[in-house]
Amino acid sequence: MTKQEKYEELLPQVVAMIEGETNEVSVMANVSAMLYEAFGWWWTGFYTVNGDRLELGPFQGPVACYRIKRGRGVCGTAWDRDETVIVPDVEQFPGHIACSSLSRSEIVVPVHDNKNNVVAVLDIDSKDLNTFDETDKTYLEKLVKALSKTVIW
Ligand code: SME
Repeated sequence: MTKQEKYEELLPQVVAMIEGETNEVSVMANVSAMLYEAFGWWWTGFYTVNGDRLELGPFQGPVACYRIKRGRGVCGTAWDRDETVIVPDVEQFPGHIACSSLSRSEIVVPVHDNKNNVVAVLDIDSKDLNTFDETDKTYLEKLVKALSKTVIW
């Protein structure tokens, strides 16, 4: 199965899984688990916005750092720029925060509330270089949109 086919299969499953749910922690937890199982990535999870920093939310994978300042690391950069950031090689990203030394590439997608404010970021790490591309960006952005529609932040 291609990556695109996997996403095409997964997306309706995610939508069905979160439909009608209004507890954002529960939804983020199940979305993390679904992505983790479907793709076998190293770390899948969320950081949520609190004031001027991100705080660790529901995730699957090894333990991670609790707090990230706005504009710092890949997560803080995606939040600050309000756009998806793809990092093919974390060693080449200035200021990358290494929660796990085994993480080699990463994608971070901002999650919005219904007023279009960033309320969280979806962070996915891989043990391989160059894991994430425009296909991941397209589908993960669709996925977080589905999440924003369902959850009352
Ligand atoms: N690498 C991230 C920090 C979070 S962990 O990867 C789970 C970053 O630079 O923002």
